[in-house]
Amino acid sequence: MLVFILAALGAILFHYIKRIYSYWERRNFPYDQNSKIPYGCLETVAKHKKSMGMAIHDVYFRSKERFLGVYLLFRPAILIRDVDLVRHVLAEDFASFHDRGVYVDEEKNPLSAHIFALEGKSWRDMRIKLAPLFTSGKLKAMFSTSEEVGDRMIAHLNTLIPEKGSVKIDLKEIFTTYAIDIIGSTIFGLDINSFENPTNKFRNIVYLARRNTHFTAILSMCVFLCPSIFKFVMRTFHLKKPVGDEMLPIVKDTVEYREKHNIVRKDMLQLLMQLKNTGKIEEDDNNFNANVTKKTGSTTENMSIEKITAQAIIFYIAGQETTASTTSLTIFELAQYPDVLKKVTEEVNTVLAENDGKITYESLQKMEYLELCMSETLRKYPGLPLLNRVCTQEYQIPGTDKVIEKGTPVVISLFGIHRDPEHFPDPETYIPERFLPENSNYNPKAYMPFGEGPRHCIAQRMGKINSKLGVVKILQNFNVEIMPRQDIEIDNHSIAIIPKGGVNVRLSKKQTTN
Ligand code: HEM
Ligand SMILES: *[C@@H]1O[C@H](CO)[C@@H](O)[C@H](O)[C@H]1NC(C)=O
Ligand SMILES: *[C@@H]1O[C@H](CO)[C@@H](O)[C@H](O)[C@H]1NC(C)=O
Repeated sequence: MLVFILAALGAILFHYIKRIYSYWERRNFPYDQNSKIPYGCLETVAKHKKSMGMAIHDVYFRSKERFLGVYLLFRPAILIRDVDLVRHVLAEDFASFHDRGVYVDEEKNPLSAHIFALEGKSWRDMRIKLAPLFTSGKLKAMFSTSEEVGDRMIAHLNTLIPEKGSVKIDLKEIFTTYAIDIIGSTIFGLDINSFENPTNKFRNIVYLARRNTHFTAILSMCVFLCPSIFKFVMRTFHLKKPVGDEMLPIVKDTVEYREKHNIVRKDMLQLLMQLKNTGKIEEDDNNFNANVTKKTGSTTENMSIEKITAQAIIFYIAGQETTASTTSLTIFELAQYPDVLKKVTEEVNTVLAENDGKITYESLQKMEYLELCMSETLRKYPGLPLLNRVCTQEYQIPGTDKVIEKGTPVVISLFGIHRDPEHFPDPETYIPERFLPENSNYNPKAYMPFGEGPRHCIAQRMGKINSKLGVVKILQNFNVEIMPRQDIEIDNHSIAIIPKGGVNVRLSKKQTTN
């Protein structure tokens, strides 16, 4: 009897899964023939042969269709290949795709209610409130903090590099510390110097979160692939929230200290305190006062300390890896292209000479060739290999009779598009000049390193400024040794494109001739 029941259950389950895996065929969509039960197109990810970004990149290149049905484990999802359609999804038809569909539980877990995951009206309200954080005026006010971190990075490198001769440096590691310290000081308001004191509390939490690559990889996949199951598990077992539970007391302490001693600093924490106390952030770029009197009749509500901490944490997560890889991979590419290296170094020297060797917010804007290099790095190595949305209202694909159902995840392979020779001729080669207006040797519609539409990267300016600053600091102080052309080896255990074994470049000290 028991055997019979088990067999019956097994048969039902089998048919159920079979039925899920016929979803795209039944709907008459073109679909990825390689998607097999039970992993769908993520088999290589499950077997640790590819990162998620690379697996989706592979699906992108297996097809020529404008869009393609795939299976992410047991979830039918749609991969959009055509860049015009991509722009519809991200921008013009945003109303049908305004959410990312990742785990968020506003009610039970305020630490999950950060702008990256928030949905619908909650997201829109938060986006409007946070926008004034990233104006160029605010960034200018905070520039000196980033510069100090840059100086500490140089001081640290000076201890590693001998007076004569060169040494191999893992720039990914160096720039990770750089990015962590910038975020630690500008966003969390902490006085940290991880170059001199690598075991400080903030950095430890950060490293703890990244330590167990297997577990965190599975966890981040769940947040992404099965948010409702994740929500259920979190609610049922009252799990500790990784990072959040450790970060919260640090933020609380700093905020209380500042409020008690009336300390006003020019950083983002101060502006998040404004948000906490008054429900909004001042447009005025010079007003960092945390308790500007609430205007009478204003409808804005105050925000809890948990909610502002959630925003600070997502800024850390979104900003750290992206900044560290953009800077390190720029130097890595420069080391392989002597002409490009020469040109950008000359530009840096010229602009800095006009300014007594000082790097300012304005002088970075003047470096036009550096801007081209930055664009090319972000093309070849977009900070996020994929963009994703979920369909929030039934959507008929323009020019077809195909309808995407509400709730369907939408995936865009940014890494695939940015390396597609149809959009970027000779995609594996690092060619900053392709972005010169007179060359324009690419399809501008296919270029979106910061995403597109209302949900594009909120901190694009900050990401670029800190990346440029890091690169200029290196070029100003050290010689980059030329090396043969090579590819990075991509780590198999993550969503993003993370170089395994770091990003290694040989640096030497500049020999002063005076
Ligand atoms: C070079 C550095 C960076 C790159 C390449 C980058 C790239 C991106 C991309 C591709 C997205 C997704 C956009 C979309 O789905 O359309 C994104 C979103 C986001 N980024 Fe960045 N980013 C960088 C730096 C930063 C920094 C420094 C911060 C914070 C301080 C940040 C905060 C965010 C946030 C909060 C979102 C979600 C926005 C929303 O959903 O409304 N990013 N970023
Ligand atoms: C990833 O897995 C593939 C296939 O097993 C292997 O060839 C490759 O070396 C791995 N890459 C890294 C960086 O471990
Ligand atoms: C905040 O408000 C209190 C009372 O209104 C005032 O005494 C204090 O100076 C203000 N704090 C700051 C940092 O301006």
